[in-house]
Amino acid sequence: MTQSPGQGNALDNLLTESRTFPPSDEFAAQANAQPALYEEAKADREAFWAKQAERLHWETKWDQVLDWSDAPFAKWFVGGKLNVAYNCVDRHVESGHGEQVAIHWEGEPGDSRAITYAELQREVSKAANALTSLGIGAEDRVAIYMPMIPEAIFSMLACARVGALHNVVFGGFSAEALRTRIQDSEARVVITTDGQYRRGNPAPLKPAVDEAVAGAPSVEKVIVVKRTDTEVAWTDKDVWWHELVDSQSDQHTPEAFDSEHPLFILYTSGTTGKPKGILHTSGGYLTQASYTHFNVFDLKPDTDVYWCTADIGWVTGHSYIVYGPLSNRVTQVVYEGTPNTPNEGRHWDIVQKYGVSIYYTAPTLIRTFMKWGADIPAKYDLSTLRVLGSVGEPINPEAWIWYRENIGGGKAPIVDTWWQTETGAIMISPLPGVVSTKPGSAQRPLPGIGAKVVNDEGVEVPHGGGGYLVLDEPWPSMLRGIWGDEERYRDTYWSRFGEQGFYFAGDGAKYDNDGDIWLLGRVDDVMNVSGHRISTTEVESALVSHPTVAEAAVVGASDETTGQGIVAFVILRGGAGADAGGADAIKALRDHVAKEIGPIAKPRQIMVVPELPKTRSGKIMRRLLRDVAENRTVGDVTTLADSSVMDLISAGLQSGKSED
Ligand code: PRX
Repeated sequence: MTQSPGQGNALDNLLTESRTFPPSDEFAAQANAQPALYEEAKADREAFWAKQAERLHWETKWDQVLDWSDAPFAKWFVGGKLNVAYNCVDRHVESGHGEQVAIHWEGEPGDSRAITYAELQREVSKAANALTSLGIGAEDRVAIYMPMIPEAIFSMLACARVGALHNVVFGGFSAEALRTRIQDSEARVVITTDGQYRRGNPAPLKPAVDEAVAGAPSVEKVIVVKRTDTEVAWTDKDVWWHELVDSQSDQHTPEAFDSEHPLFILYTSGTTGKPKGILHTSGGYLTQASYTHFNVFDLKPDTDVYWCTADIGWVTGHSYIVYGPLSNRVTQVVYEGTPNTPNEGRHWDIVQKYGVSIYYTAPTLIRTFMKWGADIPAKYDLSTLRVLGSVGEPINPEAWIWYRENIGGGKAPIVDTWWQTETGAIMISPLPGVVSTKPGSAQRPLPGIGAKVVNDEGVEVPHGGGGYLVLDEPWPSMLRGIWGDEERYRDTYWSRFGEQGFYFAGDGAKYDNDGDIWLLGRVDDVMNVSGHRISTTEVESALVSHPTVAEAAVVGASDETTGQGIVAFVILRGGAGADAGGADAIKALRDHVAKEIGPIAKPRQIMVVPELPKTRSGKIMRRLLRDVAENRTVGDVTTLADSSVMDLISAGLQSGKSED
C-alpha cells in the first residue's frame, strides 16, 4: 500500500468520539484494581510480575523472573515449578471451598448441572488417570474436538495435570481442518463426542473425527463422550468416555512441571494460509490469565457469577473460561448452545436464572442482539450485571452504547479487551474501577504491559496520530513460538519492526488526544482512498451510528480515480422500516458517513445484505467482500461459518445498489 506524499500518516485518524463514562464512586471504591497498580508496574516491571505470580501456588519458586536472552523466545519464572490444574482446582478444595460451585453448566436443550470444586477435582483426577492408562504423559499431544460440555473442560485440565499439551479444535470445524491440526501436532489421542446440539437439534460430530483420524496415523485412541445418543460407527481405536473414565480412581496426585513446560497448542486459522499452531507454556501464561481476569473483570470469587460466552475452541475459552477464571476460584456459567435457542432471549434468560454479574462476549454477538431488538433483553431481569466485557474485534461506539444501555442498565462499566491468541491474555483494556471508559476504545495497556502505536519507521506517533500497534516489552503469557516452525514465528511477528525489537500484532491503531488507544482493524484491511489511509473500522462505526444500521462491513475496491473506493455492506436493524434499503435511505447513509467522518470517507457504494461473511469465531472476512466489490469470482469460502452467505449477498446485490 502506498503512502500519500506529504501526509506521512501510517493511518489517518478520522472519527472522533467524545463520550466518556467514569466508574461510579461506589464501583471505584470496591474495585480489585486501584490506580496504584499502574505506578507499581512502572516502578519495577519484573518485581510487579513476580508479585502477580504469587497469586499461584508454586511447588518450587523461580530464581529468575524473565530471561529474554534468547529473544524472541521468552522464559518467565525460570526454575519455578507448578501444576496448572492443581492451581485451578485442588488448591480451592484444600482452602475449604470444595462445596463452592465452579461451573453452572447449562445444556442447550435445557438440561443443567452444577459442578462444585470438589466434584471438579474428582472428575479431572479420573480423566487424568484415564489419560495415564493410555500411556499419555508429559509433552504428549491430545486433540479435543467437543461441544461446550463439562467433559471438555475436564479434558483440558486433565491434560494440564499430566503435563500433556491439549490442542482444542473448534467443534464447528470440518474433518479436514481437524485432520490438519491433529497431524501438525501429532496428537496421540482425540477426545470427542457422539454428537452435539446445535440450534435445538442433535447433529453428529464423530463422523468428522472418523474421517480425520483415517488420515492421521499418529492417533492411537479416540475417547468418545455420549452427549446426544446419536448412533455412531465404531472403530478399534474408539473407547467410550463412560467406560474408560468412570471406572478410574478419583484420586490423582499432580506432578509439578517446569514453569516453561508447554501447556497447549491452539491453531489460529486467520483468514488465509496454513493454520499456525500457537504454543503457550505454563507459569507465565497462568500468571497473566489469572491477573488479568481478576483485575479487568473485578472478580469477587465469593459473590460473583461470571459468564464468558466464548467457545473453548478459541483462545478466549482457554484463558477466560478455563485457566484465568478457575485459577481465581470463580463461580461461572458455561452454556452449550446458540443464543437463539429456543428463542432470542436465551442469554438473558440464563443471566436471570443464575444471577450473572459479569458477562464477557464479542461485538459480533452484541450487534446481533441489536439487530434482534432491545425489546428482547428488556423482558428479563438483568439487574445483577455489574461488569460487561467485549473481545475479538473493534466494538463500534453505537454497539458499545447499546450494550451499556440495554444490557448493563446504563451503569455497568464495559471493558473492551484487546488481545490475541498469540498474546495468551488481555493486553489492552480499561481497568473498570480506575479508567473512565470511552465507547469503542480499548484505551491503555494494562499495568505491566508495553504497547504503542508507531509509524512505518517504528517511531511512536503523536497523540491524535494513527499507525501500527506494537508490543515493546515481552509479557508473561506471550506465545513461545509456532509449533514446529521457528522461522515462521520470527517472520510473522518479529520481522516488520525487527530493528526495534517490537512484536507487531498486525493491527492498525490510533491515539486520541488523551493518548488512549483505538483499534482500527487488521492493517491488511486498510483502504487507500486518494492517498488517505482509512481504517475499515472507522467507516463501519460511522455506519453503525446511524439508527437504521445494525452491522456494517466495508472494503476498498479498486477505483480508477481514487485508487480505491469504499464499498459498504450493511445489515439493517430490526424495525428499521421497509424504506430503509431504498435509494433515498442509501443516500442518507452515505451522507451520514460524510458528516461523521468527512467527505473523503463517503462510501462509493452501499449494499444492503441479509448477512455478512464471517469466520466461525465471528470475524468478518473482508477478502470475500472485496471479491464481490471488484466483481471477481468469490475466493476460498471454506473457513466461513456459513458458506451460503455469499450466495445471499450476491442475490441481494440487485436490490440495494447505489452509485452516484
Ligand atoms: O485484530 C484484533 C482483534 O482480534 C485479533 C486477534 O484474534 P484472535 O487471535 O482470534 O483472538 C481473539 C480473542 C482474543 C486481534 O489482532 N481483536 C481482538 N480483540 C479486539 C480486537 N480488535 C479490536 N478491539 C478488541 N478489543
